[in-house]
Amino acid sequence: MNVPILFLHGFPLNSSSWKAQIEYFSDKRIVFAPDLRGHGSGPKGGGPWMIPDFTSDLHLLLVEAKINKIIICGLSMGGYVALDFVHQHPEMVQALVLCATQSAADSNEAKDKRYKTLEKIRNDGLNGFADDFSDLALSETKTEFSRELKRSIEDIIKSNNPADIALVVGCLASRKDSTPMLHEIKCPTLVIAGVDDRIISLEVGQAMASKIPDCKFAKIPDAGHLLNQEQPERFNSVLEFFLNNLK
Ligand code: MLT
Repeated sequence: MNVPILFLHGFPLNSSSWKAQIEYFSDKRIVFAPDLRGHGSGPKGGGPWMIPDFTSDLHLLLVEAKINKIIICGLSMGGYVALDFVHQHPEMVQALVLCATQSAADSNEAKDKRYKTLEKIRNDGLNGFADDFSDLALSETKTEFSRELKRSIEDIIKSNNPADIALVVGCLASRKDSTPMLHEIKCPTLVIAGVDDRIISLEVGQAMASKIPDCKFAKIPDAGHLLNQEQPERFNSVLEFFLNNLK
């Protein structure tokens, strides 16, 4: 029996951003793709939140589903949560896939940008932010496919509640630096980076991979930050190859 896989989406999206992976992997293993705290149908209210709150939500989900071993595949914010989960519950994680993510905490400059994001969301809601974020997160928006993808990403972002997304912004800015624990990760790990990622660069992913003991690194050409959506076939085949070669 294949170990189930848990897909963790990025900020400020929801589980539908894993649609191509859910469709592809569902006949091979049990797939979980929850909406994370503050997004879609995920838990709401009662902030401030910190990343370990997301870990607690997921731990509860797995305990309730009677799952004691899982493969975690997290993108960006989902990767921050995956790193916290493997730190807190290493015995539950069979393998880890970290996509378009980083272990470092926000620099002061990144915190300033978060504050600007907060102000924008408070003043204008999510419409302008959805346009800015989807532009930055995609490698290009000129083809029919990428224009359609940009529209669907904007729709996902705008379907969230601005107050919840604002809480997540604070949560991202307060996350700790996971770099010192990378060498403790015991499970096989795959880091995947988009060659054209303008939010978390390929080099950042590569540097993180070099600090994890049993780690492979893959780059996806013609993909930015949302690499699983921009290049679903390439992404799925990289992930499948890694999963098929797990002992
Ligand atoms: C994400 O895609 O989850 C975000 O870009 C992460 C971040 O802003 O740190």
